[in-house]
Amino acid sequence: MERTFLMIKPDGVQRGLIGKVIQRFEEKGLQLVAAKLVQITMAQAAAHYEEHRDKPFFGELLEYITSGPSFAMIWAGEEIIQVTRAINGKTNPVEAAPGTIRGDYALRKGVNVIHGSDCLESAEKEIANFFTHEELACFLYPADPKEGMTTTPSF
Ligand code: GTP
Ligand code: MG
Repeated sequence: MERTFLMIKPDGVQRGLIGKVIQRFEEKGLQLVAAKLVQITMAQAAAHYEEHRDKPFFGELLEYITSGPSFAMIWAGEEIIQVTRAINGKTNPVEAAPGTIRGDYALRKGVNVIHGSDCLESAEKEIANFFTHEELACFLYPADPKEGMTTTPSF
């Protein structure tokens, strides 16, 4: 089962949007594998946004993402990257379609409620930056029943 890293950024947490955001992914049929509130450190933020280190907005980005608690999550499901990025909407909320998270809840590019990994490789790196293996749930049944059982029950 493919998995991705999604994170409700400090503006989304502050505005009380955690429940609404989780609901969208659950209703789509994706499976929540891990979740927690995190106060991101500068080192974690710099690693997370490493690809943007030469951009003019890098400093602003680090300041924003460390400005308060974020809600880090791992979600699993088929075509998880494409599906979650479509639900998130375009980076710039002005261009994001209504019905997407950014289209419905954000106005500014630099303050856009949610992060989603852009490929499976980045997802694994981002997951390792925020979660330990012990924090991941192990489900008896996956979100997609046709995949069959993922593990043997221990009871
Ligand atoms: P993420 O899911 O957050 O990674 O968004 P993305 O993949 O759609 O966008 P990208 O990785 O290119 O940019 C990462 C984040 O940097 C965005 O979500 C924005 O919050 C921020 N960002 C991107 N472009 C700008 C910009 O021009 N100005 C500012 N202030 N922030 C930007
Ligand atoms: Mg990105």
